[in-house]
Amino acid sequence: SDTEKGTYEHFMLKEIDEQPFVIRNIIQKYQDEDGDIKLEEDIRAAVNQSDRIYILAAGTSYHAGLVGKEMIEKIGQKPVEVHIASEFLYNQPLLSEKPLFIFISQSGETADSRGVLVNVKKQGHPSITITNVPGSTLSREADFTLHTYAGPEIAVASTKAYTAQMAVMSILAMDIARARGIESSFNAIQQLGLAANAMETLCDQKDIMEGIAKEYLSETRNCFFIGRALDYHVVLEGALKLKEISYIQAEGFAGGELKHGTIALIEEGTPVIAVTTQNHVNLNTRGNLQEVVARGANPCVIASETNHQEGDNIILPDLHEVMTPIVSVIPLQLISYYAAMHRGCDVDKPRNLAKSVTVE
Ligand code: G6P
Repeated sequence: SDTEKGTYEHFMLKEIDEQPFVIRNIIQKYQDEDGDIKLEEDIRAAVNQSDRIYILAAGTSYHAGLVGKEMIEKIGQKPVEVHIASEFLYNQPLLSEKPLFIFISQSGETADSRGVLVNVKKQGHPSITITNVPGSTLSREADFTLHTYAGPEIAVASTKAYTAQMAVMSILAMDIARARGIESSFNAIQQLGLAANAMETLCDQKDIMEGIAKEYLSETRNCFFIGRALDYHVVLEGALKLKEISYIQAEGFAGGELKHGTIALIEEGTPVIAVTTQNHVNLNTRGNLQEVVARGANPCVIASETNHQEGDNIILPDLHEVMTPIVSVIPLQLISYYAAMHRGCDVDKPRNLAKSVTVE
């Protein structure tokens, strides 16, 4: 059952492995009999009446929001801002004339996000909650709910909820494009099918991920992640996963920003994990890798098929540029998992963290 570990030693690994099924489940739930995407008419209307979308979230859900913005802007051509809920709460930016708020929350109970929802409701703005728990506070209090259908997530470090949130936003992005009459070859359903297959392939490569964790992360005190464009958003999540469960000091950086400070921290043997799936910046990321290698870094490269070069550690199947995070995060989750395991950490219940934070 969903709340038992079965043959797994940890919920986290079970939940990582469940991701292909979750994605296929989302495809089913958001598809009509003709294989077309299906979204509530009222949600479509609320989105289309707005002139700008504001995504609010915390933690891993915030990282999903960063990807959601790319999907909605690139596919649906609608402007989106993404904000950390606890920041927005006490420092509300200037809003557009007709804002629509989307709250992303696995639990639907995060106090920081709820605080913003209460405020924007008072201001009279419409809201949608994207959540894994439809009966939750954020779901009940927002005007609409988009369910992520990931099933109960028990491990404190979020995995399947994150990929599910991005999957649902890809469907929303496609629906926005349709409603606005934008010509696009992007098909979320087809892309999600490909993503589910790719996830499965990667989940079958656990020995490779475990090998990387042992080689790069068993002794180190810190680890850097680099990426550009959508890969930058994913490495933020990769670094958060590693911090949360292995207690290794990990940071995700935009490749081009390294030289503006962080490169000072690179020493002999410092692990630098790079993700490169975005064709137009692959060479830029490769250049950044050379810069850190020249200063002694130990590079680990996760590249898409198209961008892959001899010596890269993991190859990801090619997907549409906005969909790559759904797949590229899998090795990052698995590498974090094995790093934490080998360092003897309590993977499912890391110190100082709670699954849902219902107080400010
Ligand atoms: C807590 C959890 C994180 C999670 C964040 C937001 O800090 O430890 O894993 O990403 O809350 O949770 P939510 O339920 O709102 O997605």
